[in-house]
Formats: sequence, C-alpha cells, structure tokens
Amino acid sequence: MFKKWNLESGLRKSATLTEKRATAQLGRRSFLKRIGLGGTALLPAAGWLAGENSSQADHGGRDGGLDRGDVAILRFLAAAEILETDLWQQYNELALGNAAFQQGLFALDGDMPSYVNQNTRDEFSHQDFINAYLVSKGQRPVSLEKFRTLPSSQATGANKNAKRLTSLMNLTVDTSWYTRYRSTGNPDFGDSFPQIVNLVNVPAIPNSDLTIGGDDIQVIANTAGFHFATIEQGGSSLYDSFLPKATSAEVVKIIAAIGGTEIQHFEVWQDKAGNAPPVPLDTGARFPALPHAPDQTPNGIDPADPIDTNQIMARPCKFISTRLPLCSVIRPTSTANAGAVAAATGLTQSGLFSGQSKEFFQVLLDLAEDADDARRGF
Ligand SMILES: [Fe+2]
Ligand SMILES: [Fe+2]
Repeated sequence: MFKKWNLESGLRKSATLTEKRATAQLGRRSFLKRIGLGGTALLPAAGWLAGENSSQADHGGRDGGLDRGDVAILRFLAAAEILETDLWQQYNELALGNAAFQQGLFALDGDMPSYVNQNTRDEFSHQDFINAYLVSKGQRPVSLEKFRTLPSSQATGANKNAKRLTSLMNLTVDTSWYTRYRSTGNPDFGDSFPQIVNLVNVPAIPNSDLTIGGDDIQVIANTAGFHFATIEQGGSSLYDSFLPKATSAEVVKIIAAIGGTEIQHFEVWQDKAGNAPPVPLDTGARFPALPHAPDQTPNGIDPADPIDTNQIMARPCKFISTRLPLCSVIRPTSTANAGAVAAATGLTQSGLFSGQSKEFFQVLLDLAEDADDARRGF
C-alpha cells in the first residue's frame, strides 16, 4: 500500500513504519509534483541554512551537544514558527489597523483583535526562543530571510511595503478540524472528515479598503477566523508528532511546552470560529449558517448535537488501539498525518506559499524530512 492523500482534509493517510523508507522517495516526488516541481532536479539545500555544519552532522549522532535528531526537529520547528510568525503578523496589522477587518472580526468576538495580537506575540516568542536555544547549543539560527519576497496587502493598516514569506490572499482553508474534533474518529486510524465550510481560493485578509459592515469583508473575516484554528490545530498535531522522537529531556520539555500553547491557541480559535455569522445574514449564500446548539434548560440533559458549534472540547476518539476506550486527545499525532512533511504539504496545498520559489519548497521539504526521520536515542 502506498501512502495516499486524503484530498478532503489535505492530510496524509497512515502508512506503516516499514513502508516509510521504501516510500520516502515516492513521498518526496509526490510532494514536489503537488507543488508543481515534478521532474525538477533537486538542488542541494546545504548552505541555505545559516549554521548548517556538514562535518559535524556527518560524523556521530550528536551535534553541538544535542542529538542530531533533536537538532533536526528544532530546525524544522524554527522554520515553522518563522512562517507562522509571518502570517500572524499580517493578520495582526489588519486586525488592529483596518477598521473594516476589525469590525468583521468583532462578529466572532469583541476580543478578537487582542487575541490576534496575543497569538502573534506568542509566535514571535516561539521563533525567537527556538533559534536562541539552537544557538545556546552551538547551532546557528534558522533564517528564511532570503525567501521574504511576497507582497503585502495594500489595505489600510498593513505595512504595505513589507515583504512576506507567506500569502493570505488566495487560500484553500481546510476546515475539517471542525468535524474531526467533534468525532470519535481519528485520522491515524484512517478516518477522514468532511469540511464544515468550503473555503476554496478565497482571501483571508483584504487587499484594499472594503466597506465597513459589508458582506465582502465579513466573508474575509470569517475565513480568517477559521484559518486561525486551521493553523493552530496543525501546530498542535505537529508538536505532538515530535514528542516520541526527541531524545534530550530538555528538548522534550520544549516540544511539550510550546506545543501546549499551540493547543491553547487552537482551542480559543475553535470557539471563536463557531461564532462566524452567515453571509448574507438572511440566506448564508456566501458563508453558511453554522449548527448552533439549542438553548440549555435545567433538565439534566445537554441538548447539543456533537456537531454543534458549542462542542469545543475534544470529543473522545480512537487512540493507540481500538481495543482501548475512546479518549479525549489531540488527533492526529502520527508522523504520516501530523509530522513535518504532512504539515509542509498541507500548508503548501492551502496556497499559503503561493509565489514562493522552487528553492523555498526544496528547503522546506529537506527540513521536514530530516525532522520526520528523527528517532529517540539514535
Ligand atoms: Fe507557534
Ligand atoms: Fe501557533
């Protein structure tokens, strides 16, 4: 069985460990094909990363006081956090500085601009901390600055002349986390989940000044609200996928503690996304009405359906073995579904890196493969 892709959720289905090596090259080729680089000779990425020390990396398993696998995990996480920071910074400029976008976010929660600002702050701290930790262990920091080439929004509030690593202008947002976390299924058991909203090739930020209170900006704000959760649930799964792979107790602590805040972010955004209003308000033709639970009455019975917007706590699902009881957990956590290559592929397929260079994708994939290959104690 070859690795397959769940097109609906954009997540890779499970493959057994023994298949992993045999299909590694296939996975690499299919990744490149999906991002439009099929048949392109792979250029060595060595040297793009400040601090790549091949002589150290080639001899022995420890690198600057850290296990080589731990370094690979931290390098990918540093890159992921740099990319996260870049997209959150774009959201933050508009959430705080664009009246129409801010008003649209208010429909989800009056604290949305502040929450966006706090999430952005946290991402800066993640990228800065992981890079500083690498430096403290004799590694040089990860830098993606050479890929900072994409244009900014031209709407009021945006730093219009800044160059970006990511694009929020034309996203296909995977909203299947909504149904996944309200289900007893788990992607790591081969389960797949429908989208709650179809957001295909749509902007998540305005590129010009739109009418305050208009439908156009509300659809964009709703899209952003869902994308916030999409990003953070991906981060939650990604960090968890690395926990069984890290060797150093300190690196385990870093993965668990930073990963925990990704989960915290996701949970907030999952709650707020459920408040996204239909657009137009009366028909939902452009953004559908979400399934709201009936009002509670004190009769001892929760009238909510599992799919209702208020069902924000992770529903118990399959975990480890179907012979064990269902358990409320982060899902997925497997390398195949939640690891670095899966994360990089999902982000790429969403259009987040539209306009990036071939070298960018090669670098991202090399980092991702190295991180996924990490094994505890090796
Ligand atoms: Fe983060
Ligand atoms: Fe995050």
